[in-house]
This record gives sequence, C-alpha cells and structure tokens, in this order.
Amino acid sequence: MGRFYVTTPIYYVNDVPHLGTAYTTVVADALRRFHQVVGDETFMLTGTDEHGLKIEREAKAKGLDPKTFCDGISARFREAWPKLEITPDRFIRTTDADHEAFVQELWKKIEATGDLYEGEYEGWYCVGCESLKTEKELEQPGNLCPLHKTAVERVKESSYFFKLEKWQRPLLDFYERHPNFIQPESRRNEVLSFVRGGLNDLSVSRTTFTWGIPVPGNPKHVMYVWFDALTNYRSALGSGDLTKFWAPNAKVVHLMGKDILRFHAVFWPAFLLSAGYTDEEIPDVVYAHGFLTVDGQKMGKSLRNAVDPLRLAAELGPDVLRYHLLRAIAFGQDGDFDHAALLERYNADLGKNLGNLLSRVLGLCTKMTDSKHPGDDLATDGPLEAELGEAYELNVRAAYEAWQSLAPHTAIDHAMKLSNAANLYIAKTEPWAQAKNGDAARVNKILSRMLRVLEALSVMLWPAIPVKAEAMRAQLGLPRLGITIGSDLWPTKMPESRAGLALASAGPLFPTHDEKAQKELLDKLVPKAEVVAGEAAPAVTAKAVAGSASGESGLVAYDDFAKVDLRVGVVKTCEKVPKKDKLLRLTVDLGEAEPRTIVAGLALSFTPEALVGKKVIVVANLAPREFGSAEFDGKKVKLVSHGMLLASGPSEDLRLATIDGDAAPGSRLK
Ligand code: MSP
Repeated sequence: MGRFYVTTPIYYVNDVPHLGTAYTTVVADALRRFHQVVGDETFMLTGTDEHGLKIEREAKAKGLDPKTFCDGISARFREAWPKLEITPDRFIRTTDADHEAFVQELWKKIEATGDLYEGEYEGWYCVGCESLKTEKELEQPGNLCPLHKTAVERVKESSYFFKLEKWQRPLLDFYERHPNFIQPESRRNEVLSFVRGGLNDLSVSRTTFTWGIPVPGNPKHVMYVWFDALTNYRSALGSGDLTKFWAPNAKVVHLMGKDILRFHAVFWPAFLLSAGYTDEEIPDVVYAHGFLTVDGQKMGKSLRNAVDPLRLAAELGPDVLRYHLLRAIAFGQDGDFDHAALLERYNADLGKNLGNLLSRVLGLCTKMTDSKHPGDDLATDGPLEAELGEAYELNVRAAYEAWQSLAPHTAIDHAMKLSNAANLYIAKTEPWAQAKNGDAARVNKILSRMLRVLEALSVMLWPAIPVKAEAMRAQLGLPRLGITIGSDLWPTKMPESRAGLALASAGPLFPTHDEKAQKELLDKLVPKAEVVAGEAAPAVTAKAVAGSASGESGLVAYDDFAKVDLRVGVVKTCEKVPKKDKLLRLTVDLGEAEPRTIVAGLALSFTPEALVGKKVIVVANLAPREFGSAEFDGKKVKLVSHGMLLASGPSEDLRLATIDGDAAPGSRLK
C-alpha cells in the first residue's frame, strides 16, 4: 500500500468556478479515486488563492472589504466541487490562520539561511499574472503582458528579494536527479531551457498595498502572493499525522494548467530547497496540462461564464461531464470542449458500448438464469473465452499503467476496449442460440463471464464515473465499492464467479439520446445571446432589461443595469459572412488576451473596411449566441458571437454607438 497526495492549483477568487478550473479538479479527483481503488492511502487538496493586488482591487471595485469578498467567492468553489462528485480532503484558503502561520514559518526558515535580502524593486508588473515581467517579455507597442494583452504597470518599491539566481545550478541538478519531476516531457524541456537561460533574484514582498500575509518582523511588507500560494501544498498538511503525505514513501503530484508551470517547477522547489527540504520532500511530479477551448473558441471571461460546468452536471448528471472531460482531452495537450461531441461520446461509449452490454446481459439473465449470477466452469473454456481472456488481461493492465502515468484518457479508452471485446464475445457466442439448443452449461458460462467483466468494468470506471459505476454495481447485486483503504480492488485477475448471487437490475443506466433529443439538449446547453445589433432588438434598452427584471413598471433597478458590462472596443478585423446578407464577422479588441469574435447584423449599413479601426461599444457579458454556420476559406465554421455592438437605426442605415475622445480598449462604461 502506498500513499498518494494530489493537488490542484488554488483558484483566484476573482472568478467563479468554470470549465477550466473544473477540468483540473475533475482530473485530480479521478486520479485520487484510482489510487483509492488500488488500495493507496490518499489525500486530495484544492482551495482558493485569496491574497494579492488583483483580489484587493477586485474587492474594492465591488465595494467590499477583501475578506468579505473572498468569503463569498471561496464558498462558491467549495460548494461547486461536490456537485461534480469531488470531495477533497481539505479545501484550503490562503486566509486560513494555520496556512498564514505556516507561510510565515517557511519565510523565517528561508531568511535564516541568508536567502532573503532587502532592496528596492523597479520594474514592470502584470496584475493579471501577479508576476513581475522583464522588459524582454513585453509586447510592443503598449508594454503589454503577452498572456493578458493588458498594459503592465510600472512599480517601484522596497521589497525583499529571494536569491533565486543562486539556485540555478542546484535546480538543474535536481531536475537531472529527478527526470520525472516536470511532466509532460515537452514542458520539461521548456522549463530546462528557461532555467539554463539564467535566473534573476525574485522580489517576494510588496509595500504598496496591504492585502497579504505580513512579513515576520517587518509588517510594512506583505508577502508576494505566489510565495504565499505555493506554500499551500505543504501548509495544508500541517505538522501532525498528515505529514505522512509529504514523506519519502508518499507520491506527491501537483496538477496545473501550462500557464502556471514555471511557478511550480522553478520557484516552488527553490523555496523548498532553500528552506532545507531534502529531495525526498520535494513533490514527485508537477504536471502541466493543456488549455481547453469551448466549441472551438478560446475561453475568454464571457465564454467561461456562459459554459457553466455546474449547469451541465445538473442537466446531464456529473458523470457525463466528468467522462467527457477525462476521455475527450488527452491529458497534457490542449483540447476542445465541444457540446455536440459530448453528447455523441456519451451515446457511443456509455450508451451503446457499455450500456448495451449491461442491459443485454441483465436482460438475458432475467430470461435464462432467473436473475441470478450463474456458475461458470473454467474447465470447459474454449477459444472464444481465451480470446476474451487475452483482451481482458491486456486492457486491465494497460488501464492500470495509464492511470499510474497520469493518462486518464488512455485508461478509459482501455476500459471501453474491454467493453467492446465483451460485446463481441456475446455476439460470437450467441447465448440465445445456445439456450434454444438447451445447452444450459454454455449459457451459464457466457453470462457468468460477462457479469465478471462487468464487475471489473465497474471498478475500472469508478474513478471517472463514480455515480454510474456504483449504480452498475447495484444492478449487478454487488456491494458499493465503499473504498476500503488498504485493500487493492483493481481487477488484475478477472473477478471470481458469484454463482447464486441475485441480480438487482432496474431500468437502463445509460439512456441514449436520439437525434431530436440531442438537438433539444444542444439548444438548451449551448450558450446563446438574446440580441445582436441591428437584428433582433435595438441594443439593450432600459425597457428590454426591465422587461425581465422589474415587471410592468418599465424601470430598471440600478443593480440590474449594473449587471450589463458595457466596454469600449476597437474593431481589429471585419469580413462579410458568405451567404448571410446582413451579417459581418468582426474581431474586436476589448483589452483581453485575445480579440473577441462578434457577429453583427451590420452588413447592410457598413462595408467591412469602414469598420476596421473604429471604436465601438460592446455588451461584453452577453452570453454567446450561435448564428448557424458559414464557410470561410473552404472551411465550415460555427458562427458564434461573443458580445454585441450597440447601434441605432433601421438595419440598412445603422449608426454605431461610440465614445468621444481617448479610451483604451476594454474601458468600462459607467
Ligand atoms: N491562483 C493561481 C494558482 C496558484 S497555485 C499555487 C491561479 N489561479 S487561477 O484561478 O487563475 O487558475 C488557474 C488554473 O485554472 C490553471 O492553471 C488551470 O488549472 C485552470 N484553468 C483556467 N482556465 C483554463 C482553461 N481554459 N483550460 C484548462 N484549464 C484552465 O493561477
């Protein structure tokens, strides 16, 4: 029996849970469940990252003190995860008293080694990244952060520095001694070349704001938010019994998106080494996964808010969402979350492959074995049993190895291959024909073999689809997995026959959706906006909003109006949509990482050229709306609008709303 400790990043509370954060958290939970199944003692950690300038500003903008603001959003994260069948062992907040005390202790340890010194920092800071930027990293013109595409800020203040430069060589040596520390391989190479390029000492405290953990002995300084945040992985375990998860015989895996690998792969081990932790007490793996797009679109903030994982889970059941996230995206690579593909995969894998196997076998048992597990005489096995046995061994072993090497998509694929092999076995053995021939022993063998494979599948798939796997077990008359720590339940060998055990089948577990039902679901699930400039409604008028918010009065409460996020945008590109007379497809700079794609009914009033470079007013938080599809450069693409331009007038003579004077893209109208 081993020990397995898995973490997600702690999420900033300037955003609520979305598909991206749900993704990392689902993978962490699935890995943890796999380790429970194989008998390991496990610990899973997630939580919220609450300090720093970004959060202080966000709270101020909402008129709240930072702690009250954090309490509200942190609770949304805490409450979200159980809805996806995720129950972390600890949900940490960086404002927890034990965390704060631990971070201060770590600081003191590092200070005692002489790795901290006071100085003055002058340079560029991106509040979005909560990270200092070198001149070289910035995009010109405008000194933009390459990730956020927003202008960085010039900071000059006294600060403590961590002697990161001195740790360059020890870090490179550490990476060499632990070739699996940074995964996947391609990311490891990126980090190695970054570190080989030389490291600068790192500013680790701030003096121009106060929302952070005070530096021990010098409370004018608050700690740099990443020093505070990274330490959560260790502080969560405290100094009692749970430290067994940080011990040499525990496997510690940090999962994160590729955007924040450097903090985990460079700063974190440097802090730990400096504080005197040994190689054995440094995490085993920092694994950077890719980024998700949704229906082919980058997940900007509005799309993130529109594709709500909790709504998907409530609508389809948590397992359908979990399954798709784990199976559709090769862990480590970028991937697309496509709503239609989600439904198709569900139908094909869970409905047709696994679901059919289960309901077929249970149906045959109702008719042929009086709804009991029949016995199964191994002495009379023939070539078809041998073929099934081979598929069993191969796939069960491969799935095990895939989970161990952090490849959930491959592990699930092997479970599905086994299910396929079982379907094939039934088709070839034709138990219904054997029954007609009166060969009861053969019928029993076939059905027993299938029930045993189904039992194995319920274990193999439990990490991914825990609710359905338990339901499957209930139908098979088996006890809940119930996770007995310490016993290895992985079905390396085909489970024993359970002759005589009563089956407790009930309705189909994986009902499939026909084309019409799929379409209805898609209509419901794929985010749509209500209006587009010049098309359905004349922008957002007080009346339009009040209609839904305030009933008959025609007036809108200020709070309701404040929900509409109006921003200044600059049109970057614009083109006609082939075969749609009224539509133009634009990309509009809203000061975000990427320009927004907006589809607008402006084509009767403007040529595309006339719009490029124009300042426009955009409703930035309108749920995305789909306008069917169109062909661009021979490729069919979905037309999805991520916002709406404000305009006035008849559709053939529209006037665009704009702003007078200077205003940076993304400026909010108030
Ligand atoms: N607070 C820091 C992490 C500190 S960890 C010591 C932070 N927080 S965050 O809220 O911005 O969350 C970042 C993480 O969310 C990513 O690393 C990734 O795990 C997840 N994702 C956010 N958007 C994502 C996608 N579009 N796709 C996949 N995962 C993404 O950074």
